[in-house]
Amino acid sequence: MNSAVDLLPDTISCEKSPALGVRVPVARSIEPDRNILLQHIDTMCASRRFSNFGPIHEALRARLCEWLDADRLGLFSSATSALTVALRAHRVSGEVITTPFSFAASAQVIEWAGAVPVFVDIDPVSLTIDPARVEAAITPKTSAILAVHTYGVPCDVKALEDIAARHQLALIFDAAHAFDARIDSTPIHRFGNATIYSTHASKLFHTGEGGVLVCSDEAMQRRCDRMANFGFDGSGDALECGTNAKMSELHAATGLAVLPKVNAERAARSALRYEYTSALHGIDGISLIAPPIHVKDSLQYLAIRVKSEAPETDNRIRNIICERLLLLGLESRKYFSPLCTDFSYSPKVTVRISGELPVAKRAVHQVLCLPFHSGVDRDTVSVIADTVREVMQQRL
Ligand SMILES: Cc1ncc(COP(=O)(O)O)c(C=O)c1O
Repeated sequence: MNSAVDLLPDTISCEKSPALGVRVPVARSIEPDRNILLQHIDTMCASRRFSNFGPIHEALRARLCEWLDADRLGLFSSATSALTVALRAHRVSGEVITTPFSFAASAQVIEWAGAVPVFVDIDPVSLTIDPARVEAAITPKTSAILAVHTYGVPCDVKALEDIAARHQLALIFDAAHAFDARIDSTPIHRFGNATIYSTHASKLFHTGEGGVLVCSDEAMQRRCDRMANFGFDGSGDALECGTNAKMSELHAATGLAVLPKVNAERAARSALRYEYTSALHGIDGISLIAPPIHVKDSLQYLAIRVKSEAPETDNRIRNIICERLLLLGLESRKYFSPLCTDFSYSPKVTVRISGELPVAKRAVHQVLCLPFHSGVDRDTVSVIADTVREVMQQRL
């Protein structure tokens, strides 16, 4: 019978092993195609057009509409600015229900909108917001749900859509980790009122800094585009209070020079996920976080979960794995940690915690993102898996 390694897809195209001892970063940006980038820089310099929905911005917008199968989308200076605009454009106020198990941005944008984040617990398997907890947290003050497709694992989109429709709430999805994810071939942005992707340099498809906003409603999409440019209507008048959240020509040019390399990076990461899955298989207490089979994987992160006998030891074991890997020059990242309820500034802002958060509080001590990019090879995965196995066997 073939071993798991023999069954590896032949698309594997990892670079040669970085000799151990050389630092392996947890993430590595795709290097833009320099010829394409330089051509766009030439165009930009010749036309002296550097921002404000210029031709390079519009070219990237058109390419991404095709790539993501979107009828329309807006390009932003970051996912955070796109989320901020989306919340304001949907007139959120009062309370917004969200997950505490996320990057700081998803709670902070609610605070910037002048609303109160209401944190509810997450599902123990998907680690995304638990729809039953969302429903239980709704009050007359609730105006929206901000759900996160954590590590590219989709939320229970149907249940959330149902709740949002019954309670007339805006449903915004933070898909910072879920670029080009699909559920049964349906692009993930087809759910809810608005979906935001991040194109930060740490993301598989990137523009250096940037974000993409897809609204289900055309008028809302135009509104968000306008609000990203001070609310201007094109005649110099501002129809409403906006901000500056536009993507510049240089960032759009970076995106156009990265896009042709996305499929190769996806193929390498797909093979790498297979390598990790095989290498970590059977290690007691270790599981991989990955989307279910009917979901197109965004291949953004390789996150593992450490589960020990007691919650108190999860964190200790996870930290030892992290330290041991670092001694070998292998970076990992405790992502997300801490919870959005537990930043130093958290006690200074008004938030509400609905119910207890036992799942999120445990998960935050269990997760560890491992090096995941085309610069990681099979030998490195073996060393990582051996280190994890050793720590887990000794339950240090
Ligand atoms: C869940 C989540 N939301 C929002 C963001 C913010 O994205 P950006 O850096 O593009 O503003 C991130 C960043 O990685 C994230 O992880």
